[in-house]
Amino acid sequence: MTYEQAQETAAFIRSKYDRQLQAAVVLGSGLGAFADEVENPVKIPYEEIPNFQRSTVVGHEGKLVLGEINGVSVAVQQGRFHYYEGYDISQVIFPVRVFSLLGIKTLILTNAAGSINTSFKPGSLMVIRDHINLMGINPLRGKNDERFGPRFPDMTEVYDRGFLESAIEEAREMDLKLRRGVYAALSGPTYETPTEIHMLRHCGADAVGMSTVPEAVTARHMEMKVLGISCMTNFAAGIMDEKVNHEDVIETGKKAAGSFKELLRRVIPKICS
Ligand code: HPA
Repeated sequence: MTYEQAQETAAFIRSKYDRQLQAAVVLGSGLGAFADEVENPVKIPYEEIPNFQRSTVVGHEGKLVLGEINGVSVAVQQGRFHYYEGYDISQVIFPVRVFSLLGIKTLILTNAAGSINTSFKPGSLMVIRDHINLMGINPLRGKNDERFGPRFPDMTEVYDRGFLESAIEEAREMDLKLRRGVYAALSGPTYETPTEIHMLRHCGADAVGMSTVPEAVTARHMEMKVLGISCMTNFAAGIMDEKVNHEDVIETGKKAAGSFKELLRRVIPKICS
């Protein structure tokens, strides 16, 4: 997908919403309810947005919601595009390109994840301090368009330290135990084997999922600052003697929705001020 297509989509979004957007939020599986928190919402189904794909996953709606959270103008992506759905990786990361062209400098990426760290129980939230890209693809592969960013972007601080500290501070005020950890991304759509999880644990991963990393890498390419939050929806394969299934992932995501929503409502004005 090209720079010109991203410009066209950005112009379309601007025509629907005249305030300067300050942050974008991408909602993970089972976490879509946060979009209902947006005040004065303008809701645009993906099929109406030029160059956007459609969401195909149960538990993911396909809508962009523009409006305010605690006075901050936000674009909320209710439903993301996953690589396992068969999209080209440039389609997966396209919304992030558009957000950047809209002048948005703050990106909040959220996801449902399997817990590898046995002390991160299902239902708990983790702020991502770093990631491991095991998706077998890098979204920046191919000819580089310098208008987006440099050929070889630095990845020493993908997830902004200041944002991370703000999230931890807000969680403390809520009496919420927010964990911090490393997110490993695999392409899916299968869940992992117990031996893959064993390997990931030894590599230093605390959580595993099938998203977020392409968007985070793309955001850093364009010098957006990133906050990543994972909701632990299950213990990863082999951690407990239980199978992993999508219904449990969605259900546990919904159960954690209350604290997840409140955390976001508090963090957004903090990191956008
Ligand atoms: N593995 C990968 N992705 C996931 C999981 C998991 O266990 N849970 C939710 N998303």
